[in-house]
Amino acid sequence: MKLVLLGPPGAGKGSLAALLKKSLGLAHISTGDLLREEIKNHTALGQEAKSYIDQGGLVPDELVTRLVEHKLKTIQGGYLLDGFPRTERQAKDLDQILARLKQTLDSVIYLNATLSVIIDRLAGRRVCKSCGALFHIKNKPSQKEGICDLCQGQLYQRPDDNEATVKERMRVYLENTKPIIHYYEEQNRLMTVDADKDSEDVEKIILKSFDL
Ligand code: AP5
Repeated sequence: MKLVLLGPPGAGKGSLAALLKKSLGLAHISTGDLLREEIKNHTALGQEAKSYIDQGGLVPDELVTRLVEHKLKTIQGGYLLDGFPRTERQAKDLDQILARLKQTLDSVIYLNATLSVIIDRLAGRRVCKSCGALFHIKNKPSQKEGICDLCQGQLYQRPDDNEATVKERMRVYLENTKPIIHYYEEQNRLMTVDADKDSEDVEKIILKSFDL
């Protein structure tokens, strides 16, 4: 199965991807994670991407698309794209990449979450430095404060989760990403789910819609 997860920052794309990855046996491709990995490894691409991410803006389409195409070529079987596409250009580029790979998307899942929920989720998010597991200080606290339950790694707050950058990420989302919902609606591939619900409930709704 080949899926895209679409939605505003903090809608729960990463959290849902972790669940669907297990239940459907899919590879999880998060462009945010791929870019943060490039930054961590001090690559030229990472250096360039950092300036955009720190400001809450979008990394240029060509850079992200190149990264995604490279990754997709290494994957056998199904996958979940999380955070890509994010612009109409990227959506069109994805269509071309899929055509080259002779693949089609099964569904584009739009996680529709309200602003107050998003703000609360991003303000309380904590991420494991070692394994990337997601926690939340209220919704999903780790057993030991600041320590990952899965690998004992250190938890940190993403630098782009501060109030000013979140505001800019939301503005950028509304301007660039929300319009592509319509692009997939026209292709009859869009599934909209209420993402204010718990991730487990959202997952159940999605699995049921696939008759699983
Ligand atoms: P990226 O990392 O993709 O960030 P994002 O889209 O802003 O999404 P987030 O990771 O912030 O949120 P999420 O929806 O995954 O929520 P999560 O599950 O973590 O991108 C970062 C930056 O990289 C961008 O700003 C841009 O600069 C660049 N970039 C990335 N892709 C790009 C592209 N294609 N083109 C150009 N630039 C690109 O959940 C958040 C918190 O809420 C967690 O603490 C979690 O525990 C909690 N939570 C989640 N779901 C629930 C739930 N259902 N109930 C209760 N709590 C929940």
